[in-house]
This record gives sequence, C-alpha cells and structure tokens, in this order.
Amino acid sequence: MQKRNFIKAVALSAIAVAAGQSLAQDNTFKIGLILPMTGQQATTGRQIEAAAKLYMAQNGDTVAGKKIQLIVKDDTSIPDVTKRLAQELVVNDKVNVLAGFGITPSALATASIATQSKTPQVVMAAATSSITEASPYIVRTSFTLPQASVALADWAPKNGIKKVVTLVSDYGPGIDAEKFFKERMLFNGGTIVDSLRVPLRNPDFAPFLQKVRDLKPDALFVFVPSGAGAAVMKQFLERGMDKAGIKLIGTGDVTDDDQLNDMGEGALGVVTSHHYSTAHPSATNKKFVDAFTKANPGLRPNFMAVGGYDGMRVIYEALRATKGQGGGDALLAAMKGQIFESPRGPMFIDAQTRDVVQNIYLRKVERKDGQLYNIEFDVVKDVKDPGKSR
Ligand code: PHB
Repeated sequence: MQKRNFIKAVALSAIAVAAGQSLAQDNTFKIGLILPMTGQQATTGRQIEAAAKLYMAQNGDTVAGKKIQLIVKDDTSIPDVTKRLAQELVVNDKVNVLAGFGITPSALATASIATQSKTPQVVMAAATSSITEASPYIVRTSFTLPQASVALADWAPKNGIKKVVTLVSDYGPGIDAEKFFKERMLFNGGTIVDSLRVPLRNPDFAPFLQKVRDLKPDALFVFVPSGAGAAVMKQFLERGMDKAGIKLIGTGDVTDDDQLNDMGEGALGVVTSHHYSTAHPSATNKKFVDAFTKANPGLRPNFMAVGGYDGMRVIYEALRATKGQGGGDALLAAMKGQIFESPRGPMFIDAQTRDVVQNIYLRKVERKDGQLYNIEFDVVKDVKDPGKSR
C-alpha cells in the first residue's frame, strides 16, 4: 500500500471505530458545532453560535439523562479545515452529532466523514440543493436556493418585471439561484438579459454593476451569501442604478437582517423572497427575537440564527425520542419527519430527502419603529426543494 493510502485507511478505520463507540462513552452527549467564526463568513458563525446557546439556555442542557456539551470550532470557512475539524471531533472528541456548516463547500467536505462514521450531520446554514444528497446522514434546517428563488420568479413578471439580469456568487448556491430563477422566469414569459457570476472570495461588484447599468433591465436579481449583501446594496446605490430605473430584487440573503439596518434609506422597497424575517409576525417569533436580542445586545437574529436554533431543536428532539440510547442511525431516524412551529413559521424535515419543507415569504424592506425590516406581504406555503424533484 502506498503511504498516502495507508494513512487514509488508518484514518478511515479510526472514524469507523469512533462510530461504534460514540454513545457508549458516558453520560454526555456531544454536539460538534463547526462554524466560520472568523473571516468573510464570520457573521454566520456569530449568529448560529448565539442561537444554539440561546436554545440551550431556554431548554436546559440535560435531555433524556444526558448532559449536552456543545463544542464550537472555527473553520474560517475553509473546507479543508472543516473536514479536519470534523474528523478530529468524531475521532478524538467522539461527538454524537456534527452541526453548523456556514458555506456549501464546508458541508460537502464533511459529508464523507458523516457517512463513514454514521454521525448525523445537521446543516444549519449551507443551502445548495444537492448537499443533502452528499450523505444519507445529512439533515438540513436552513433552506435551499431553488426554494427561495422560484417564488420570486413567480412574483416578478406579475409585477412589471419582465427583463432581468442575474448576478450571483460563483459557487453552488449562486448557481442554483441563477438556474432556478431563470427557468421559472422563462416559464412565466420573462426574459433573462444576462447572467453574471462574481467570485465568492473578495468580490468586487463594481465592473458587474456597470455592465448591468448598460444593459438597462427592469431588475437585477442578486444572490450573495449572508454577510455580502451590504456591499452589493452600497455599490448599487452609489452607481445610481435605482435612479436609472433598475430595481434590485433577490433572495433574502441580500437584505440580511443582520446588516439591513445599516443599509440606509436606499434599501427601502427592495423585494426579496426567503424563509425567515426578523419581522415575521407570529408569537413564536416575537418570543425568539426578544430572547435573542436580550441575550445578544445590538444583534438581531437573521435566517442563519433561525437555522441554528431549529437545528438544535431537531437534535434535542431526536435525543429525547431515542431516550438517550440511540447511536447515529437511531438519531438520524428520529430527525426524519420532525414537524414543528419554528420562529420562521411551520417547518418539516422531509423523511425521504432529509431536507426542510417550509413557507417562502415575499417581503419588502420597510421602516418600522425606526428600524429597517423585511416585511412579509405574501406567502407560498409548504415549499419543498424544487431541486429534488428532477
Ligand atoms: C452556502 O454557501 O450554501 C450559503 C452561504 C450563505 C448563504 C446562503 C448559502 O446566505
């Protein structure tokens, strides 16, 4: 055997052995929460960690006789680091569940570890459709870009937006958003004038926006990952695109509640589609937002926080259902089919796909009580990931 293969084989068997041991350990139940706590996606890590800790503070740290231990690791959103951390968490810490995953490449890099070690991998952020197909141990509590994009492509042509340019981050979720938005626009009689892709790392939107200005579409459809929306908005406004009659539309990642308040007057009226708004008018959400902002002064929960909060719930309920005795397979089975009221609205983990089924809301940025919010004005109920039905 070549040396590299040998090392790989040893690592794989360590993962497999760890799978058998994980629940025998003691009375602790370990959740390895891998997040980007630093770097370009750091706001995602901060939101999810805060939400996971809030869930634990509200629901206690003992479930079915097990003491829950949350182990937070910073992957700096580098997929190789995510994979190494996942491996260490499984082999050394013997975690019962892997969770987090701020971006698609990080979730995909971990899939083989989840499969080999039979450890449930709860994806709380990453949103490319295909992620759940990368391992039978993946369960998702965030959303998918096809889910969010299709609703907007149904809304736009009915509201005077026929000619659109798309601008997306050039990786999994952006390509999903571009494809599903475009297909549905064409189906609805609209036109896609051009499809532009901007690098994920250190994007410079200026040259792309200049091109859009020259093309003069009715609207620019944008997907950028959480944390990058404010930069797009700033440059869109600085170039006077709105004054030139070009509307900005997109998935709710762009008018991210984490940044929206700092985007200023220019953001008013921007229409997006998404599964969660801080302003979602339900008692469950109000309770969540109040508790989150109280525990984290100056921060309001965004869709990443909700993915983390609901992910913790899915883990807690699986532990409860298996009476603290289940290994990875039993936990996974208990995660499938969970249905509950999330701060986002009703939510369901489809047992077949292990993906989230949820409402998608159309929202418009408005000022309320002196702050900017995504105010919901329409809803498409119980949306399954359209990326799965083909
Ligand atoms: C992803 O990488 O899958 C991702 C990240 C941030 C988002 C959406 C998707 O806001």
